[in-house]
Amino acid sequence: INALNKIPVIWMNYQDCAGNSESILRASKPTIDEIIINLISLEFHELLMAPSGTQAENQLEETIQNYEGEYLLFVEGSIPLADNGVYGTIGPSGETYKDHLLRLASKAKAIIAVGNCASFGGVVAANPNPTGATGVMGVDGINVPIINLPACPVNPETMIGVLIMYALTGELPELDSLKRPFFAYASRIHDRCERRVHFDAGEFVESFGDNASQSGYCLYKVGCKGPFTFNNCPTVKFNDTSWPVDAGHGCIGCSEPGFVDKFGSFEKP
Ligand code: SF4
Ligand code: F3S
Repeated sequence: INALNKIPVIWMNYQDCAGNSESILRASKPTIDEIIINLISLEFHELLMAPSGTQAENQLEETIQNYEGEYLLFVEGSIPLADNGVYGTIGPSGETYKDHLLRLASKAKAIIAVGNCASFGGVVAANPNPTGATGVMGVDGINVPIINLPACPVNPETMIGVLIMYALTGELPELDSLKRPFFAYASRIHDRCERRVHFDAGEFVESFGDNASQSGYCLYKVGCKGPFTFNNCPTVKFNDTSWPVDAGHGCIGCSEPGFVDKFGSFEKP
């Protein structure tokens, strides 16, 4: 917590698509404006900050010095380890993502890995994974707590839940064996799904657009991976509106380790 009673945050984008940045920008309760004004001091986020180049680099280094041991390091995207990390470098020195991460991690309070890529390697690590992409916990030498918030993207309310808990209690959430907070990842999609009654009754969509589909029947036979996936989507939804199964598409297991290879084509169970 800094002098303004806000949490210093550095948000790094490594091998990513910025989908988790997009996610938090669309947070609805509280909104991103409220988060930045009241909750966090967003010291560095290359998509949102006005400076670029040397000014931005200086801002990052000043934050590391001023808030050593205090800042939360949000990491979005995977880390390429193949060929000594040459597939991802930052700045004129050519510092690899791996070395950059290790440098920032060594002075952070904790790392919040947002999205499947930062947690488990995600889409970037899919076979044949030419860059040797891995999640943060696959990088040796990190000695601060890591919290994984996997999904593609993670729900903004899951990120905000971690921030608000830390702001109110000074504590980080309790984690499972994959370093995921229990409050968001303790339940299977399948166990909270509104179509579960149809699964139990043996009422299935056989092909997209059929009558069963119109009736909101279970999507298991058209590839839903809800029985194998842990996340809070059915109860939290996205931005108070909907979630994949509610929209008529099965869960593709985007928050699981090994996504996307683990489940292969989402067209078949
Ligand atoms: Fe389970 Fe998916 Fe069917 Fe929902 S739609 S009950 S998550 S298999
Ligand atoms: Fe991902 Fe499945 Fe939720 S695809 S967003 S974990 S419903």
